[in-house]
Amino acid sequence: MRARRHPRRLPVVVTLSLVCAALVLAGCGENLPATTTHPAGDHAQRIYDLMVPIFWAALGVFVVVEGLLVYSVFRFRQRSESDAIPAQIHGNTRIEILWTIAPALILLVIAVLTFRTQAANSVQPADALPIKVIGHQWWWEIQYPNQNVVTANDIYIPTGQSVQFQMTGADVIHNPWMPKLAGKTDAIPGHTNFLTFKTDQPGIYRGLCAEFCGEQHAVMRFRVVAVPPDTFNAWVKQHQQPVGPAFSPTSADAARRGPGDPARGEKAFLNVKNLCITCHRIEGYKEAVGVTGPNLTYFGNRETIGAGALTNTPENLSQWIHNPGAVKPGNVMSTLIKPGVVSDQDIADIVAFLESQTIAIEKPQER
Ligand code: CUA
Repeated sequence: MRARRHPRRLPVVVTLSLVCAALVLAGCGENLPATTTHPAGDHAQRIYDLMVPIFWAALGVFVVVEGLLVYSVFRFRQRSESDAIPAQIHGNTRIEILWTIAPALILLVIAVLTFRTQAANSVQPADALPIKVIGHQWWWEIQYPNQNVVTANDIYIPTGQSVQFQMTGADVIHNPWMPKLAGKTDAIPGHTNFLTFKTDQPGIYRGLCAEFCGEQHAVMRFRVVAVPPDTFNAWVKQHQQPVGPAFSPTSADAARRGPGDPARGEKAFLNVKNLCITCHRIEGYKEAVGVTGPNLTYFGNRETIGAGALTNTPENLSQWIHNPGAVKPGNVMSTLIKPGVVSDQDIADIVAFLESQTIAIEKPQER
């Protein structure tokens, strides 16, 4: 095929720009679970309020600089072979002073606004509810020190009240980021970082790990479940009841727990040969005190399996226990639990046992 003499690049550039703009704008949707442009917490709101003026300032600078560039390109282009070279200018003290001072002033304003936001977001009020958030490869341990509750990957918080994440890492550096609620703060081994935020809107908010921490960094998610204070207190109260040998699932849980038998599942879970209790704890069972993996107390109440790897359904939990390495390659459980280690019957029963440990509260909408 003959090459065109005047390839028409402009349509290609325009099309690409439109596609990029569409993608960027698509990222701004209110209904997206992890966006910074629709804050629902005070910490995220302050960052958004800083981002907006900086965005407009940057856009202004872009338009002025690119406008001058485009203007010069067209105004001073060579129109014909006989056009002489335009005047060559080397140095203009007045303009150079101007274009040094103007950006310096803009940066100064941005710096002042940024320091103000940082100061406001660093305040740690004494009455904030403390929640310990510990990053593990690749899940989140959640402790409520004042309530004596330990859970994983779902973080219940009351609305209208400041909560304080006290963050560390168990192995490497992680970063629990909830784009709609708060900005990023690292969770560092051997060091505690604090992050205080508040939301007034009940909802289930997405969280993710924002610091690269290994193979399954992308599947280290969590949910912040913000509920009215009464609901939060009810959740805490139920969570404080040990599951224990007295536990008996209610008939309402039948659809939730799948075909297995919870009573047999309890025995299978506590059976050493199935390895569950090597790593997992369930409050109320003296045999189940493992600390390597997530505390599974009231697991049936959780939103996801494997820190966001699967939604929490009996079918998915069965799939997970069958072969966790196929769902989330490299996770610690997959080093012990391979297909066949736990029998199919035991898996069905363990699923029923775990899924029937629910908490009777009304959950809010995903936001
Ligand atoms: Cu934990 Cu990335």
